[in-house]
Amino acid sequence: MGITRRYLLRTGWKIGGGMLALLAGWTSWELLRPLTVAGASGKMKLGSPANYKAGTATFVNQGRLWVSNADGHLFALSQKCPHLGCRVPFCESSGRFECPCHGSVFDIAGEWISGPSPRGMDQHPLTVENDVLIVDTSQKINGPDHGAVAFLTDSKGPACAGNG
Ligand code: FES
Repeated sequence: MGITRRYLLRTGWKIGGGMLALLAGWTSWELLRPLTVAGASGKMKLGSPANYKAGTATFVNQGRLWVSNADGHLFALSQKCPHLGCRVPFCESSGRFECPCHGSVFDIAGEWISGPSPRGMDQHPLTVENDVLIVDTSQKINGPDHGAVAFLTDSKGPACAGNG
């Protein structure tokens, strides 16, 4: 008995299905695995503090965090909204973080301004060693409570999300 066309098709489907399952598993792992950080401690070098100018927010993809400079004070702010976990972008025109999901707004230091978020943006500890900024992503500090507005300034301009 030779190899039939039906046998080849069945085998092809099985191999294809197996590869799809492998790819789906790999994709799920990539989405859910812990963030890759340098070293077992979760510390990541972010370059010179001088790279982060006052009034700016710089996204660090590897840590999924924002490094913001509020009047000379540097913060490493988690990109994950404390409300329901959406990714919070920085709005250049307003100078604020504006969550696109339910409209929470935070100042450049991650302090809560408005919206359903229960607190300000969560943070990671920052240190400076030999003029290198280092963030420890293995540690999270809950964002400041409502009403903590030590760095609140007026909005620079129009909001990106139209929510404040
Ligand atoms: S997830 Fe950000 S306001 Fe709801």
